[in-house]
Amino acid sequence: NSMLSWQRTSFHFQPEMNWMNDPNGKSHLFSFGPLFYKGWYHFFYQYNPLAAVYGKIVWGHAVSKDLIHWLHLPLAMVADQTYDTNGVWTGSATLLPDGKIVMLYTGSDTESVQVQNLAYPANHSDPLLINWVKYDANPVLVPPPGILSKDFRDPTTAWLTSEGKWRITIGSKINKTGIALVYDTKDFINYEKLDGYLRAVDGTGMWECVDFFPVSKTEEKGLDTSVNSLDVKHVMKVSLDDDRHDYYTIGTYHEKNVTFIPDDTELDVGIGLRYDYGVYYAAKTFYDQNKNRRVLWGWIGESDSEAADVQKGWASVQSIPRMILLDKKTDTHLLQWPVEEIDSLRLNSYEFNHVTVQAGSVVPLDIGAATQLDIMAEFEIDKEALEKATGSNVTFSCSSSGGAVHRGALGPFGLLVLADDRLSEQTPVYFYIAKGSDGNLKTFFCNDQSRSSEASDVNKEIYGSMVPVLKGENLSLRVLVDHSIIESFAQGGRTVITSRVYPTKAIYGAAKLFLFNNATEAGVGASLRIWQMNSAFIRPYPNLDDKS
Ligand code: FRU
Repeated sequence: NSMLSWQRTSFHFQPEMNWMNDPNGKSHLFSFGPLFYKGWYHFFYQYNPLAAVYGKIVWGHAVSKDLIHWLHLPLAMVADQTYDTNGVWTGSATLLPDGKIVMLYTGSDTESVQVQNLAYPANHSDPLLINWVKYDANPVLVPPPGILSKDFRDPTTAWLTSEGKWRITIGSKINKTGIALVYDTKDFINYEKLDGYLRAVDGTGMWECVDFFPVSKTEEKGLDTSVNSLDVKHVMKVSLDDDRHDYYTIGTYHEKNVTFIPDDTELDVGIGLRYDYGVYYAAKTFYDQNKNRRVLWGWIGESDSEAADVQKGWASVQSIPRMILLDKKTDTHLLQWPVEEIDSLRLNSYEFNHVTVQAGSVVPLDIGAATQLDIMAEFEIDKEALEKATGSNVTFSCSSSGGAVHRGALGPFGLLVLADDRLSEQTPVYFYIAKGSDGNLKTFFCNDQSRSSEASDVNKEIYGSMVPVLKGENLSLRVLVDHSIIESFAQGGRTVITSRVYPTKAIYGAAKLFLFNNATEAGVGASLRIWQMNSAFIRPYPNLDDKS
């Protein structure tokens, strides 16, 4: 059964079969009335129910109590109207003060024009929100003058203005300039287009799946999308259609001028940092009022061939939901961290304290099968070597400096994940420290997929970026391994990389975990706690109508 192939993940959200892309309209909802009080997380996603490749997209739907175990529900919306006949595309939910939900989504109409549509639950007292109604006078928004008909999509969750209106932004472009259009509405039916753009960046092309939300400068908690005060910064995320990555910028939202100004206009004339330096796209957050946190979902596409996807019968996974906070220590980065509920899948654990990994060595970690893991690791680099190393012009980059086989005085070192016994397959997840001619250290965090698989038709890029390491901080890593996914978080989630890998030998019981240090000078001490991870229950919807 190809559906049960080893590449399928065990605790990441994925449909039983066929194609999935963007996460949609996520929100945490409660049913109403104390007798039926039960909190459910709803997850909607872009889905092609007919094939394992992109096609006519509809909305898949699933619910969970904990963001980990899921029950699939019937499709929430299908392409059955003139205004969405070519696809029910990405959209967002807004929870109104009276407890009702509105959903705005993009439809691709009979002429493939991108229009915005309104939908809402047929029955607000159904905690599973199984049935959805499309507003009968859709579309509520069509592309405005000056905007091409195929450049107008993905409305955000609405936030309140100080005048009590709802405000949304929609991604677009003019020539090669990516822009975020802004609209105000009182009723989600009639909209006023505001002048200018929330933000515009030359040369970035079409902005998909724009996200815009506040983060607290003072507290370790998330904020409702409408919160705006001197205690918050705002984050803007855009998914760049041209290079298929998600970029975020931290800055200030000026409600009156309807603009968002990045903190660092020097560095940030562009589009800022990436949520994830691996495979990760069309991500979106929602405010979880149940746990006062902001949660990020992202789509992890396949990086094997389309033919392979057709053969295995499914394509794509969603990331483990991540809690997002402003990193108060740097002020320049967000922190992303797997939601705490994932800890409930932890089984037996293994501890390794101060393991010495000499320069140029590999140390096996005896933990049994290494396909479903949660790894916490800390590394201490030899201080003497650190001081002795001579500085140079730092030209290192993860993607183009030869990967984990390239040796420097102070790195690379880290883990070999999803590796077989003979290391013929392995994905190094590692740090590389470079010393500048000024004596300053720069730390890079990388994933090297070049030897991840003996298969030839899969992506073997080397991913990564710089990661800020502050005085007194050890180098730390958290890595979630789930058969064909490696999600790794450096320095508490300042820099994140998701690798999608397709080992052919390092599977099931043959998959192993190693420490490695490929530095020429510095020894490294590693302390780890590693958990085997249980599988999540991701259950099909019971077919109660089946009378056969
Ligand atoms: C992003 C995207 C969105 C669009 C949806 C269609 O991956 O292209 O812009 O609404 O997917 O499935």
